[in-house]
Amino acid sequence: MTWLYRHLLRPLLFSQDSESIHNRVIEGLAFASQSRTGCLALEALYQAPQLPVTCMGLQFPNPVGLAAGMDKQGIAVPAWKALGFGFSEVGGVTRHAQPGNPLPRMFRAIPDEALINRMGFNNGGADLLAARLEGWKRQHRWPAHPVGVNLGKSKVTPLEEAASDYEYSFRKLWACADFFVVNVSSPNTPNLRQLQDKTALDEILTRLQEANRELAAAQPPSPSGGASSSQDGTRMKPILVKVAPDLTPEALDEIVELIIPRQLSGIVATNTTVARPTSSHPSLASVYAETGGLSGRPLKARSTEVVRHLYRQTSGKTPIIGVGGVSSADDAWEKVTAGASLIQVYSALVYQGPGVVRSIVDGLRLRLAGGQWKDAIGSGTR
Ligand code: FNR
Repeated sequence: MTWLYRHLLRPLLFSQDSESIHNRVIEGLAFASQSRTGCLALEALYQAPQLPVTCMGLQFPNPVGLAAGMDKQGIAVPAWKALGFGFSEVGGVTRHAQPGNPLPRMFRAIPDEALINRMGFNNGGADLLAARLEGWKRQHRWPAHPVGVNLGKSKVTPLEEAASDYEYSFRKLWACADFFVVNVSSPNTPNLRQLQDKTALDEILTRLQEANRELAAAQPPSPSGGASSSQDGTRMKPILVKVAPDLTPEALDEIVELIIPRQLSGIVATNTTVARPTSSHPSLASVYAETGGLSGRPLKARSTEVVRHLYRQTSGKTPIIGVGGVSSADDAWEKVTAGASLIQVYSALVYQGPGVVRSIVDGLRLRLAGGQWKDAIGSGTR
């Protein structure tokens, strides 16, 4: 399947502008998501084997998830499970609808299987995303895997008011999602990454956890719990922070210091990088000169390094979602043995097609060889 994609479909897709074809593919998946038949057809082609993982009180059919930014508007929620993903993260969403940066803003570095983007959180806003996610639930089209929401800051909101901006989206979307990722690491919103500073991040996390506690307490008790209702036996939703690969070890450690006091459920490592690879193909000079965040293969080593650092600093007690340059089972295994409990992919989906999910899950099962997933996590750091 991956061979067919790379040699037949990909050249056709890559003959068109990066963002236009992205939008068309997501619209196609949104169309398939509308009917059970559409999803069954995708499942017949792409379903991944079971590799169940329990993490943050949630049940994952397999540990390979869709990274944020692919389905910003939540228009293809049922399709991601049908394509084999063990979980998905929709958004980034901001309190206010916003158009994002001017076009073009997404570029391919094909020989390196990398992307550069400076989308700038183009999205329809938290109200619209909440209505869409509620719609999937109402139509009984909610997938049988955890769905997270990636929260960003609106461009119009000053940094000093960031906490209120995040809190608005969080409250609006609380009932619709299984977990939340606070994105303070996108390089494409001016000064956003300053929110990774300990004091600023602490303010945001404090506000979100207060809202989390309040909303959880207002829920009627559920006898069975369920995927979206558990964290240490309460109904609080897991909140994770997504970090940039460009942070120093000291800056990462400051974030680690917030984990216990702010009851963080996990860390997503990493977002895209503003760094550029040195030894790249000569034809890529102009692409790498574009402003924005780099994802894909050249990000792999750095993001694994960040996963390893965080795993050691948290003594393996905080779940880490490893993301950055994963395009094979070997890459995923590298992240897991460095300390990742779960994996996400974005760029590999563009370069290898959806068959990559099953191939990663298959490969992880082989490497696990009947062993326990929890024993594999961080095994390369011991
Ligand atoms: C992203 N990514 C991203 N991350 C995030 O937290 N919120 C977002 O809205 C987006 N948007 C986005 C758009 C585009 C076009 C790309 C390529 C990426 C980052 C993404 O979730 C992931 O962290 C990186 O892409 C690294 O993973 P890969 O692509 O190397 O597998």
